[in-house]
Amino acid sequence: MLKGKNIVLGVCGGIAAYKAVELLRLYVKAGAKVNVIMTRSAQEFVTPLTFQTLSGNPVHTELFNLFQESEIGHISLADRADLFVVAPATANVIGKVANGIADDLLTTTIMATKAPVLFAPAMNVNMWENPLYQQNEDRLKKFGYHFLEPASGSLACGWEGKGKLPDPAVILEKSRALLCPHDLSGETIMVTAGPTREELDPVRYLSNYSSGKMGYAIARVARDRGARVILISGPTSLAPPDDVEYISVISARQMLDAVLSRYQEATVIVKAAAVADYRPATTATQKIKKGADDSLTLELEKNSDILAELGRRKGQRILVGFAAETQDLLENARKKLKAKNLDMIVANDVTLPGAGFESDTNIVRLLFRDGRLEELPCLDKEEVAYRLLNRISELRGGK
Ligand code: PMT
Repeated sequence: MLKGKNIVLGVCGGIAAYKAVELLRLYVKAGAKVNVIMTRSAQEFVTPLTFQTLSGNPVHTELFNLFQESEIGHISLADRADLFVVAPATANVIGKVANGIADDLLTTTIMATKAPVLFAPAMNVNMWENPLYQQNEDRLKKFGYHFLEPASGSLACGWEGKGKLPDPAVILEKSRALLCPHDLSGETIMVTAGPTREELDPVRYLSNYSSGKMGYAIARVARDRGARVILISGPTSLAPPDDVEYISVISARQMLDAVLSRYQEATVIVKAAAVADYRPATTATQKIKKGADDSLTLELEKNSDILAELGRRKGQRILVGFAAETQDLLENARKKLKAKNLDMIVANDVTLPGAGFESDTNIVRLLFRDGRLEELPCLDKEEVAYRLLNRISELRGGK
């Protein structure tokens, strides 16, 4: 989503200016082309050379600089931006833009751009709470400018409270969201993610290695593309994404109940969860003690196949499953596609390095009901989610 995109990063004068260096690094790593504009006071905190070295582009500092204006003028910077991010954004710059004041390079370029503008404010908590500041932020929001909430904590000025620059990773995620097409608005996408745990006794369970990363990435990207998202997740260590409806479950039976209670709202269902096929036939009420025998036999009983159940109730919904395989990838995936009445199945050979459980990347093949097959290279799970949602968007009629 950020690859090849032109981002203008405005840096204002505040102690958090050093964190803009990390943000720039993240943009560059994601393949974005970044031009940095620094206010005069920002240069008191970090030197332009730091941003210049990391961005590979000259840093823009002066409105009336003959050399910079002839190389790339502020209007050209404003025009070529796909996204304009101001981080840290001070009360001063926000106040100026809110009141139509353009008296330096940064404020002039913000006023001239047609690109989405994201402010990531950082300031003293009392300044942030000041009604004058809040009024300026509200005014800009009404005009379509985007804001991130400052983070809370101990501030450089000695106060505790809201006012810290949001984490660069949070700014990066919001930037991605602003650059996404909103082709999934109007859709309600239910995503299942993570493992299930099947309780054996009060201290033990049967489960698998699913981390939830794949399913959570789908939920985040679907949200960014405008969908309403219901995320039903087994236990993971991941934080639920903001602005998605999050339902936490433990066992396959709880996941079945949650899915069946909400599936009617969904226009699209993506089942990325690794659901246990079997559960212990009985759950011991007390911890199972080690016996004298060298072996212990557990009796398991089958869980309902949630996806097959959804396949029977499919209606006009788009139904997408995953197949985690260790052998005969395509053959097994095709069988599941047909047996569960799916529109698409995402087949991953979980034995490949960089694919499947726990890793940040995945290597998948998309198999469609009409027999088409699309092979994707090893990609970040976010990128897999993005490409998967492209196909879902097409199946929904490319709205
Ligand atoms: O969570 P990560 O660490 O990021 O790992 C991602 C992943 C490997 C878990 C994911 O990419 C994946 O492959 N998910 C499906 C895992 C799985 O259970 O595959 P399966 O082939 O056993 O099941 C096929 C499909 O039926 C899946 O969509 C599954 O959700 C569904 N199913 C399976 C059993 C069951 N009782 N009910 C189901 O709904």
